[in-house]
Amino acid sequence: MESKLGPRNPILCAQYRQLFHQGTNLCLAVGCDCPPPSLLSHFSLSPPPLPPPPLLLPPPPPPPPPLVISPPMLPLPPPPPPPLALSLPMPPPPRLFSPAPPPPQTPLPMKPSSKPTQVLHFPPPSSTPAPSFSSSGVIVGMAAIVTFAILIVVLSAFGISYWKNRKRKHDKDLGFKGNNGIIEMSSKNRIFRYEELEVATDGFSKANLVGEGGFGYVHKGVLSNGKEAAIKQLKDGSRQGEREFQAEVDIITRLHHRNLVSLLGYCIAGHRRLLVYEFVPNNTLEFHLHGQGPSVDWPTRMRIALGAAKGLAYLHEECYPKIIHRDIKAANILLDFNFQAKVADFGLAKLCQDMNTHVSTRVMGTLGYVAPEYASSGNLTEKADVFSFGVMLLELITGRRPIIDSHHTFVEAMPLLTKVLKENNFKVVADRKLQNQYEATEMVSMLASAAASIRYEAKLRPKMSQIVRALEGDASQVAEFTSNVLCLDSEAVTHRQEMIKIISDMSGSTS
Ligand SMILES: Nc1ncnc2c1ncn2[C@@H]1O[C@H](COP(=O)(O)OP(=O)(O)OP(=O)(O)O)[C@@H](O)[C@H]1O
Ligand SMILES: [Mg+2]
Repeated sequence: MESKLGPRNPILCAQYRQLFHQGTNLCLAVGCDCPPPSLLSHFSLSPPPLPPPPLLLPPPPPPPPPLVISPPMLPLPPPPPPPLALSLPMPPPPRLFSPAPPPPQTPLPMKPSSKPTQVLHFPPPSSTPAPSFSSSGVIVGMAAIVTFAILIVVLSAFGISYWKNRKRKHDKDLGFKGNNGIIEMSSKNRIFRYEELEVATDGFSKANLVGEGGFGYVHKGVLSNGKEAAIKQLKDGSRQGEREFQAEVDIITRLHHRNLVSLLGYCIAGHRRLLVYEFVPNNTLEFHLHGQGPSVDWPTRMRIALGAAKGLAYLHEECYPKIIHRDIKAANILLDFNFQAKVADFGLAKLCQDMNTHVSTRVMGTLGYVAPEYASSGNLTEKADVFSFGVMLLELITGRRPIIDSHHTFVEAMPLLTKVLKENNFKVVADRKLQNQYEATEMVSMLASAAASIRYEAKLRPKMSQIVRALEGDASQVAEFTSNVLCLDSEAVTHRQEMIKIISDMSGSTS
């Protein structure tokens, strides 16, 4: 830190130079710039014929620090009544950073004035003539005060700029690029007390239990501010150190996007770790696609696909370092009453990584959605999320679960997809519940996006922002996807066996 404040910084150098010049100006302002013989010679001069400065002046201080004040004092002729008021032009602090003013044209005491108007304002002269150096004492005092004030101003300026730099660096370390005004640096993490969450959830009652996932139980609660929350109590919470947990949570809390479930805060209580999320009221995509409720119409499916794609694109392409979800699936897409999609549980896999002593499908993603390279070798890139997202698109199109058993997966769907895209015959794949009610061009863009996303080779899969464009109806993006996958029959067949083997292994290890 020292080096940042030191003279290597050109701005600070300039400030140092200004300070130095200021000192010089101060000198010039109080007297002259003739070469100093010595203080002693000055004091040995005969006292002035006229009364000295007023009584109110302080007793002569010890000889002033020679650096600033002494030179101008020395060459004075036998002093006339010291025109004190004139001799004390206080340089205002702002001049610190402005060019130094020119020295006064007329050295103040050089020509004794017969009518020193300023002197009239002073009390009558004392009968005991004060020594001539009392005026210089005042000047020294004032100069010391001014110097001190200047120092304070300079140090404050350093302090402020240092603080600003640190804050900027801190923000940069967290690594958020802008995002069309969507992103905002959140206020501080809210840390909840366990008792507070107990009250909110009515003692984590069964009535408030909304679900259980691989990471733990989720309870609905009402916080003290009246806001509804989903409170997730992590299994084996104590395995991750408090600091690591806080650091991860801190990052997640700062992510804000309309297509992400916001983390409101967290709680650490002994071995317990709890996460407090905004409550998203309209269940999950999984529930709406495969549950008993009414069917989701096509425009709503498009809306959900696009929203989830935007949320993921944000995590991959707007956050630095990028956040890989690792567990994209219909159960992790929450919906509000307008069927706005909100991606849940981002960052959670990382948060819970240390809690798992063995590699498990929980951390590796969910069977049927997991990308082949990640499942087989743990090779994780954001393209693993793209694969899972592609699987989820197929789920939206077909209304089928991504995996029925280890021998039936969407990877097998690739030849079918290419065929459908070639022939524009969507009936074969479209969910029967849709009753053929869908927009053909939108169906093509969703099919093409899905096919492009589940490519076996991770690097051949598109970026999420490209998928967003395709789902928004960008015809050239859709055409690019389509032409890329139309020649894929052979690839799909080649890799099908490998994929099936991976999934068989995984389901074998978890069953
Ligand atoms: N923020 C939330 N708002 C409303 N309900 C939620 C919220 N988060 C989770 N839930 C509910 O809790 C259930 C369990 O969620 P959880 O994330 O623990 O499990 P999951 O999504 O099924 O599996 P996974 O552990 O892989 O994420 C969800 O199905 C959902 O219904
Ligand atoms: Mg979940």
